[in-house]
Amino acid sequence: MQIANNIYWTGYIDWGLRNFHGYSTPSGSTYNAYLIVDEYPTIIDTVKHYGFAQMLFEIKDIIDPSRIRYIVSNHSEMDHSGSIDKLIEFSPNAEVICSPQGKENLRYHFKKNWKFKVVDTQDTLNIGKRTLKFFLTPMVHWPDSMVTYSETDGILFSNDAFGQHYASVERFVDEAGRDIVLRESAKYYANIVMPYGNNVLKTLETLNSLKIEMICPSHGLIWRKKEDIEKIKELYLKWGSYRTDKKVVIVYDTMWGSTERIAFELFKLIGKLNIPCRLINLAVTHISEVITEVLEAKVLILGTPILNNKIFPTVASFLTYLRGLKPKNRFGLTFGSYGWSKLGFKELEDGIKEAGIELIAEGIYPRYVPDDDFLNDISKVVIKIKELLDKEEIL
Ligand code: FEO
Repeated sequence: MQIANNIYWTGYIDWGLRNFHGYSTPSGSTYNAYLIVDEYPTIIDTVKHYGFAQMLFEIKDIIDPSRIRYIVSNHSEMDHSGSIDKLIEFSPNAEVICSPQGKENLRYHFKKNWKFKVVDTQDTLNIGKRTLKFFLTPMVHWPDSMVTYSETDGILFSNDAFGQHYASVERFVDEAGRDIVLRESAKYYANIVMPYGNNVLKTLETLNSLKIEMICPSHGLIWRKKEDIEKIKELYLKWGSYRTDKKVVIVYDTMWGSTERIAFELFKLIGKLNIPCRLINLAVTHISEVITEVLEAKVLILGTPILNNKIFPTVASFLTYLRGLKPKNRFGLTFGSYGWSKLGFKELEDGIKEAGIELIAEGIYPRYVPDDDFLNDISKVVIKIKELLDKEEIL
């Protein structure tokens, strides 16, 4: 499909993908590769190894792949670099353009000594009528990550940045529906990019100097409408700055219903104060969905029963994920029922703190089953949450 003058989408739609290294993908994904037909035909990124036949089919529909002179590898993670070795068999004259770290990673992955051209920020490559410019974007989201810009077309090939795991017949955001794409973009950011806010802000600063008319990410839909491009940049600025909304997320699992009773009581009281709140049971919700809700929430309330002196396995899994993603600038509260030892709650509190979340009160820990007096006491901490949210300047 031609997406701009002599620029073609030659990617692979992964309709059946349901799990991307632990991230649930109920809508599948795409690996977007782009072919620029110029004096020196250039491919921007490739696809996962099992999508190569489709990619080759699409390239052959446009040009003889042996004409390809450059393969730009913006990022060495295998969903984008996984077909470089196969493509080089059909494009033996191709030179691989990548960042210094990209070259190192590709060598680790493929054990091949291809013709490499290593680029740095602001380096350019003339491919005929066009000159491509490169910008290293380390830790958005790997050390090797970079983006490629075609000034002639005003197109930014942004790789993982601004992407979404979403398979569709449409190729553009405005065709697929902006709300769906923004939701998928938030999920992508929360699960893949969240720990690297400072790097995201540096990348946005770099991009501000460019005239961008189209953003072509390596996953999902292409951004081409001015208002859509502005919207996603604005959201990346919000998320990269760890700005949150006045929103509470209650996440829990339960054993005999006591922890769930506390969760319901918290939800009821918070709702009565007109604070937006989400109630999520980890037994039936994937952690990648949960973290998407946490992305813009100022308060996270996490509950677990105690099992064999430990927190529940579903809660432990979420906590491990949370500690890695480190959502900054939020408040937390813990709760849960126990039988004869509260020891496990230390693990819960330590985990939350390690994730960078500030606990605002003592945990709510009834023995076995909470009684009405106990539940009534919960209102005090809910008022504290409201006061904190009212005091915080939330943008
Ligand atoms: Fe889509 Fe970091 O790979």
